[in-house]
Amino acid sequence: MNLSEIRQLIHLGTPNPPYGVRSLARCYGIDDLARLARRRLPSAAAGYLDGGGEDEWTLRRNRRAFDALEFLPRLMQDVSTIDTTTTLLGAKVPLPFALSPVGGPRMFHHDGELAVARAAGEAGVPYGVSTLATQSLEDIASAGRGAPLWFQLYVWGDRSTSRELLHRAKAAGYQALVLSADTSVRSERERELHQGVKLPVPELTLRTLLEGALHPDWSWNFVTRPAIGFPNLSMSGPTSRERLAQMFDGTVSWDDLEWISREWDGPVAVKGVLRPADAIRAADLGASAVIVSNHGGRQLDRAPAGLEALPAIVDAVGDRVEVLCDSGFRRGGDIVAALALGARGVLIGRPYLYGLAAAGEPGVRLAIDILAKEVRMTMGLCGAASLAELDRDLLRAAVPARAAVPAQALSPDGGPAAGPGRKTTPRSRPAATTGRARTGAEASK
Ligand SMILES: Cc1cc2nc3c(=O)[nH]c(=O)nc-3n(C[C@H](O)[C@H](O)[C@H](O)COP(=O)(O)O)c2cc1C
Repeated sequence: MNLSEIRQLIHLGTPNPPYGVRSLARCYGIDDLARLARRRLPSAAAGYLDGGGEDEWTLRRNRRAFDALEFLPRLMQDVSTIDTTTTLLGAKVPLPFALSPVGGPRMFHHDGELAVARAAGEAGVPYGVSTLATQSLEDIASAGRGAPLWFQLYVWGDRSTSRELLHRAKAAGYQALVLSADTSVRSERERELHQGVKLPVPELTLRTLLEGALHPDWSWNFVTRPAIGFPNLSMSGPTSRERLAQMFDGTVSWDDLEWISREWDGPVAVKGVLRPADAIRAADLGASAVIVSNHGGRQLDRAPAGLEALPAIVDAVGDRVEVLCDSGFRRGGDIVAALALGARGVLIGRPYLYGLAAAGEPGVRLAIDILAKEVRMTMGLCGAASLAELDRDLLRAAVPARAAVPAQALSPDGGPAAGPGRKTTPRSRPAATTGRARTGAEASK
């Protein structure tokens, strides 16, 4: 073995070819990508990616909600081919999930939205592009050919700017509109404040400079590439940061949905819905879809998880509009659970951002592949060969571990009671013997 092979082996001295790609080989799940992303990002960028509102109660709740559900698989079904195709906001798609709109992706990787759009285009997965995109709507649209592209609108106090942006997105070929309705006020994210996040770039402090020195790959790209900004906000007049300050002025109302739907003249999804009454209102006003979401735990703290709010909203409007859901989805099994509760599809935010931060476009591709593989695997193991076979009968409320095994089935020292000289008991759980367990839908009402 020569010297350069030894250096490669121990990863010393040779920069990773191109930006983290080699490390992807050891990423099997989204959490692996998240670990890699956190290693690559300075703390300000990582804090912006991972953080939530105030105490991050909702952020934690988004993950815990999944612990409340378990699958009851159907055995001996033919799952030799598994069909995951569906339609989302008018487009036929190969997978039941889409990439959520996020602001500031170039904070995570210098290729930003272009990398995401290429990966989405290759997989045919819808990509929602934020008003706070860090590349132009037109450039993203040409990079994302092959993906249904959605444009996400934040409505300004000055409605004419929003109208201008709508027309621009339409002209660039965006097929559907996502109206984010949960940001009438921008929440306080203390993690971001502590880490020195000042959109669209980290604040320059001794700490962020030191962090930059500790993350040379990221810093090199940050200083040698064009400055990060919000090019779609600075059409004329004030700077990006001033426009951002004007955006969350609290004046957005249901009246806006009416003129926006008229102007857009295509599928409109209202994002941030958590109450059935709001979903009904959106459907009454002509929306094509509602996105059950708490903004990934970044807005109202103590809002319920998307998954918890989902069943009641499906029951209220599922036959009138598409019901999509996001916030906290990290596994294909999470996606399957939401579909079984009645969602048409799921949006993912941080999972693909972890891929982006870890390695750019190949990282986003891997995030999509991981979730696609896990969706198929979970469906197969549940005995469902198509999305139509996913229903609430596949789920039940998970019994807390302590209550799961009847006490009389255990020996006094906690071990199983079976064995020579010991009385055996049937291997049943209280839920099965004391009546039907509640479904997740019922559990969360
Ligand atoms: C860094 C970051 C920026 C975001 N920016 C936006 C945005 O500009 N517009 C929007 O509607 N939602 C935004 N969101 C929320 C996502 O669209 C989505 O609702 C959320 O990320 C889903 O939760 P998850 O990250 O747990 O998958 C952002 C989320 C993150 C993580």
